[in-house]
Amino acid sequence: MSSDWRVPLTALDYGPEEEQAVLRVLRSGWLSMGPEVEAFEREFAAAIGVHHAIAVANGTAALHLACCALDLGPGDEVIQPAINFVAAANMTVAVGATPLFADICAQAEPTLDPAAIERLVTPRTKAVVAMHYGGAFCRMAEIHSLCRRRGLALIEDACHAVGARYLDPQQSPPHGRAAGTLGDLAAFSFFSNKNLAVGEGGMVTTDRDDLAQRVRQLRSHGMTTLTWDRHRGHANTYDVLQHGYNYRLDELRAALGRVQLAKLAANNQRRGALVRRYRQSLDGLPGWTVAHARTSGDSAHHLMAVVAPDADTRERAVTALRDARIQSSMHYPCIPDFAAFRAMRAGELPNSRAFAARVITLPLFPAMSAPEVDDVCGVIRRAAAR
Ligand SMILES: Cc1ncc(COP(=O)(O)O)c(C=O)c1O
Repeated sequence: MSSDWRVPLTALDYGPEEEQAVLRVLRSGWLSMGPEVEAFEREFAAAIGVHHAIAVANGTAALHLACCALDLGPGDEVIQPAINFVAAANMTVAVGATPLFADICAQAEPTLDPAAIERLVTPRTKAVVAMHYGGAFCRMAEIHSLCRRRGLALIEDACHAVGARYLDPQQSPPHGRAAGTLGDLAAFSFFSNKNLAVGEGGMVTTDRDDLAQRVRQLRSHGMTTLTWDRHRGHANTYDVLQHGYNYRLDELRAALGRVQLAKLAANNQRRGALVRRYRQSLDGLPGWTVAHARTSGDSAHHLMAVVAPDADTRERAVTALRDARIQSSMHYPCIPDFAAFRAMRAGELPNSRAFAARVITLPLFPAMSAPEVDDVCGVIRRAAAR
């Protein structure tokens, strides 16, 4: 695909293995959910160390099913970060529950602040959504024990964090555990810009058998058997046990997912090396903050986010990047400031609002070269000096 960017924000790591995987499925004669999906689920569960991995159509569907499996609905409140992609908030509303937006810890740590969660809890609060921004962990030990103490369910929005591992020997568990294994349920996205990319795809993970069973049924209309079961002669009829959806993943994307999963560890390591190079150049730039300078464990290094000293400097830097044909982005606007969410309750959000006004996301992808990182940093440094 041609683009005018000299350095794009992100790029797929696709090659002959992905082509072979798609051909294998095309030649197999079976396209909808079947053996590739089953294998992808098995391999994904083994890779992150979780009992159940349930493949779905996208990350938003994964969040929706997580909310449904926990029976969240009208009258229930779900505390979640103000800085997030809008999917978790939209799915909270989709099940009839109310999102309450909590602040992030700091500019350098743009994940849910446990103290801010505590301030928002009411008797109606039923769940917390923790999003591992950029692939770096939330303060999961604190959030986990807060949820236990207050009787709240914990959903990880792990869409940025595939392959991340929580390392904090002071906290055992969750020391050594992967993103997606730290709450009641987790949601992953395999959208094209993600570390594991299939176009559109997602995964729900959980260690709880009861939740896994609900998610599996809800993924396919609450039906007791699949077309694949009937095709193999394992069943010839079905019942519908609950009102569900069609959130199934197809065989082509599952086959791509298996190849991408096999590449994930090396690609995340490569991303980590590029992030270290970015930090060497940008840490200490007066007034600028590099997100996640301190984080618990091995991040998935999904995003390279930096925070400018003020909104004007960000504007200048973004313009300078664009002029140099370097793509950048902003993850994310503050959700309660979107028109559809303005009427909803939120805590005080000084850190989230300052972050949203000043953050820039810089290019980061496994095939990015060290000179490209230096090039991007040079543009930022020159814009900062003006
Ligand atoms: C943090 C976060 N949550 C949820 C989603 C939704 O995933 P999807 O686009 O696969 O529906 C995304 C993806 O863009 C995301 O970045």
